[in-house]
Amino acid sequence: MEITRGSRMLLTKVAKDIKSPVLDYGSKNGEIAVQMDCFFADHNIANKTDIDPVKCFYVSEINEVTTSFNTAIFTAQYSLEFNNMLIEEIMEVLPLKGELLIIISKNYTLNSIEILPWKWKVVAEDNDFTIISIVKSKHFTVNRDKYLEDFTVKTNNIPVDLITDPSIFSNRELDRGTKALLEKVELKEGPLLDIGCGSGVIGIVASKLIKGKITMLDVNLRALKWAEHNAQKNNTSDYETIPNQGFKELGRKNFYQTILSNPPYHSDYSVAKEFIEEGYKMLKMGGTMWFVVKKPNWYLKKFASVFGGVKLIEHDGYSIVYGEKRPIVKKEKEKKTTKKHQKRMESTKKRRI
Ligand SMILES: C[S@@+](CC[C@H](N)C(=O)[O-])C[C@H]1O[C@@H](n2cnc3c(N)ncnc32)[C@H](O)[C@@H]1O
Repeated sequence: MEITRGSRMLLTKVAKDIKSPVLDYGSKNGEIAVQMDCFFADHNIANKTDIDPVKCFYVSEINEVTTSFNTAIFTAQYSLEFNNMLIEEIMEVLPLKGELLIIISKNYTLNSIEILPWKWKVVAEDNDFTIISIVKSKHFTVNRDKYLEDFTVKTNNIPVDLITDPSIFSNRELDRGTKALLEKVELKEGPLLDIGCGSGVIGIVASKLIKGKITMLDVNLRALKWAEHNAQKNNTSDYETIPNQGFKELGRKNFYQTILSNPPYHSDYSVAKEFIEEGYKMLKMGGTMWFVVKKPNWYLKKFASVFGGVKLIEHDGYSIVYGEKRPIVKKEKEKKTTKKHQKRMESTKKRRI
């Protein structure tokens, strides 16, 4: 396994001095947990590791981890707010004198440490990475509520109350692409899947517009926690939330009338490809799949090849690409006959007459 440089620095320069038990919170593919043979936790179920499943916790928050540890290791993410929220959550569950080690990429996340409210010290450093340590003292306090956003959005004349945190896509307002999709989609009664549901806004609005079970699915357990909370807050009745990576073992062939998505962007389109190919199988005959995207070219080609046709609506700077599952009409193959074969057929016909 190739190890990212920040993790390697921790393993070579810091690991020998740390106090077990240790929990690695979300290193890439659990690479630190694999090398140290320690506990691993993450809220993204796509971040799979090769370590003993007994030592792995996929949780929406670290306080759901059912083992205690003296040291936690955290690789800082891109968003400052998101980092600080996760750091507070980790500090809260550490025992007194427990240590949090944070791996920070200087080009990516350095600012995070400049506003940390606790005493910290650098334990290792090179040109690209800094590893800092925070030890939990008895003066430690947290205020996790300050990260929560509580707001109301209005689309299709439907007000929706949402609570989110910085780990959620568009956590302060309704994304304009999502709004464009909701304004243009033509919904029919029947089961609907909101794939990559985030805060749950698409599924919640859809549930006010049509009858039928609403499935909200996401790979991020924090997103699902908020989708569940928001669905209840908005009195959504017939819904379910499913943690899943794409359509892995969903097993609902020919089930959904509608699939909607504001898909995550990945430059290789790997996730979108799975959503479209596997989603097609989950649609009923006559069912439709609607995606909202910024750049439609790849999606238009993909929908056309999977659905045998594609439509496009441009709205408010976004592209809504959609397709309908229709019966495949097989063209009758013309039977090829050689001249010799034709002559033989004709003479047999004559003989019969
Ligand atoms: C652009 S956000 C859209 C969120 C929400 N639907 C909205 O419109 O506000 C994409 C969502 O897809 C989720 N996601 C990314 N990869 C996924 C995968 N492989 N399977 C399921 N969900 C995924 C992300 O966690 C994120 O919540």
